[in-house]
Amino acid sequence: MMLVGVLDVPGVARSARAAREFLTRLARRLALINVTDDTLADLVLCVDELVANACEHTASGRGGRVVIYVETDGRTVRLTVRDDGGALTEPRVQPEACGEGGRGLWLVEALSTAWGSHDTSVWAEFPCCSRVVMPQAQHVSS
Ligand SMILES: Nc1ncnc2c1ncn2[C@@H]1O[C@H](COP(=O)(O)OP(=O)(O)OP(=O)(O)O)[C@@H](O)[C@H]1O
Ligand SMILES: [Mg+2]
Repeated sequence: MMLVGVLDVPGVARSARAAREFLTRLARRLALINVTDDTLADLVLCVDELVANACEHTASGRGGRVVIYVETDGRTVRLTVRDDGGALTEPRVQPEACGEGGRGLWLVEALSTAWGSHDTSVWAEFPCCSRVVMPQAQHVSS
């Protein structure tokens, strides 16, 4: 995996916004590896939820930090959000994600091609699409 960008922020609520803006600033670099605008929008939504989770459910939110990595192998973009651990729970989609809460990982599962966790990181993968390159239009006159 090649690193596209990394952001290290405090585990506070406004860092979710900083993370969204960070992904948006990476747009041009992600376009180079054929990440579409739609996929970028998915990445922005997911980073918001994953950073919010780190702040809400782990020691990151108790004076710690959250680190966001964006990597690619040319076929997928991998978003990883590393927290400071110390959680009483594991990142799991809630079975009844219709009431209060339990929306974040449900959304990540719906928008990513794969997601998971290891140690104190939660990751999600998104596709890099090959764009159709239209040939130059021909101008014919007679
Ligand atoms: N980084 C994490 N470390 C440990 N546990 C986590 C982490 N992220 C999420 N979880 C656990 O997974 C559950 C589901 O997360 P999810 O984001 O779907 O819901 P939520 O954060 O409880 O509510 P919402 O996102 O709707 O505000 C959380 O309630 C929490 O128990
Ligand atoms: Mg959440």
